[in-house]
Amino acid sequence: MREKWKKRVLVTGGAGFLGSHLCDRLVERGDDVICLDNFYTGSKGNIAHLLVFNCLN
Ligand SMILES: NC(=O)c1ccc[n+]([C@@H]2O[C@H](COP(=O)([O-])OP(=O)(O)OC[C@H]3O[C@@H](n4cnc5c(N)ncnc54)[C@H](O)[C@@H]3O)[C@@H](O)[C@H]2O)c1
Repeated sequence: MREKWKKRVLVTGGAGFLGSHLCDRLVERGDDVICLDNFYTGSKGNIAHLLVFNCLN
């Protein structure tokens, strides 16, 4: 049932403050999340907990 609503979402700036929280919510609801970030102001540390579970690309 959930699979039907599952989406693949691209989050630009996903390792930043707002983007990382958005990634959290999207992963939480079961979406495939692709995070695009050049780490200019963001940090891998903001999304490290998601990378561990391999639920974010
Ligand atoms: N703990 C806190 O309360 C806290 C912490 C940080 C920031 N803030 C506030 O949040 C706001 C800023 O948050 P935000 O999420 O908009 O900014 P941000 O800088 O945290 O996120 C922007 C992201 O975009 C990325 N980025 C920039 N240019 C890019 C490019 N060309 N290609 C790919 N990625 C790119 C950056 O590396 C960064 O990860 C400010 O108001 C700031 O004061 C609050």
